[in-house]
Amino acid sequence: MIKAAKIKEVVMQRLFRKKEQLNVGVDIGATFIKAVAIDKSKTPPELTAFSYEPLTKDTTASVKKAITKLGISNISVNTSISGPSVIVRIVEMPGMSERELKSAVKFEAERYIPYKLDEVITDFVKLEELTGGKISVLLVAAKKSVINNRIELLSGAGLTLRAIDIDSFAIMNAFLNSQKESKDITCALIDIGAKITNINIVSGEQSYLTRDIQIAGDDITVAIAEKLNLKKNKAETLKVNPVEQKNERAPIIKDAFYNLLNEIRLSFDFYENRYGKNVQKIYVSGGSSRLEGISDFIKDILSGDIVFWDPFNNINMSPKIDTAALEPIKASFAVAVGLGLRES
Ligand SMILES: Nc1ncnc2c1ncn2[C@@H]1O[C@H](COP(=O)(O)OP(=O)(O)OP(=O)(O)O)[C@@H](O)[C@H]1O
Ligand SMILES: [Mg+2]
Repeated sequence: MIKAAKIKEVVMQRLFRKKEQLNVGVDIGATFIKAVAIDKSKTPPELTAFSYEPLTKDTTASVKKAITKLGISNISVNTSISGPSVIVRIVEMPGMSERELKSAVKFEAERYIPYKLDEVITDFVKLEELTGGKISVLLVAAKKSVINNRIELLSGAGLTLRAIDIDSFAIMNAFLNSQKESKDITCALIDIGAKITNINIVSGEQSYLTRDIQIAGDDITVAIAEKLNLKKNKAETLKVNPVEQKNERAPIIKDAFYNLLNEIRLSFDFYENRYGKNVQKIYVSGGSSRLEGISDFIKDILSGDIVFWDPFNNINMSPKIDTAALEPIKASFAVAVGLGLRES
């Protein structure tokens, strides 16, 4: 179980932390770069700029463009990574000192990481004392090559890296900020992007399970393209535009989306068996949460109330913000907002 404050400690690279009030979060997704600048000296924090930029083959140029659109110079940014190169596990270990834990964690990590230990950076946070003298520990491991690529990409775009986080922790950060009422129920945060779906099961300010599934919106596009014998860009248009070929597209989307939902169901089952509690609310975000009919698909496979939450809830909009442009794409900004709200 991860306390929110502890999550903030889990940073694999702590380069440097300036006491800057303007926090810049940059989420480099598989299809779109989402960037925000948030002024944390204001209460509530204020969104001063955002950008939403397609990721082209020239990734560096796309990042530069996204940052230029923020209209800020000389910036250091928070970013995050996710997917198969990042592993997060909550494990039980025998009680021991912090020093002993440091070396024990390396061996423990070996059991969970499908890479050689010298290929990864590991970090851990001791979470709590359990009965029987055991402790629970949050283990994080990330491939060095992925971290290095990200550092190179940002420096190639003229940026300084402030901190690297993990997508699901950033989503949780944005989620906790967006909720004012009691959070003491079990919520599943599900961010469905293009290539990856991030799952996070939280209760109060604690996370009980995080998992990245490599099935998302792109798999629906590919299924439409294959079944209807279309080029991918035509299939993408058909996916996001429910007016065309509605009857043909519906069963294909349903099948592809069920694959994802069944994977999510396995995570819910794991949580429910381990902790004896049910997921009560499902908070959906990510660009693919805009899929027409998504609520009905989810209801077929998962139980729990479905909420399409706004990552910008409890954040003021500066008068400079084009709110009409932001409105339809808000759901894609959970990671970027969480990064922009980081304490660092
Ligand atoms: N109206 C819509 N209906 C269905 N899907 C949509 C719609 N709008 C956007 N999408 C899908 O949302 C996805 C992009 O969402 P998002 O920006 O959250 O992903 P990403 O961050 O680029 O990817 P990832 O998180 O996998 O790295 C694409 O697969 C796109 O097809
Ligand atoms: Mg994403």
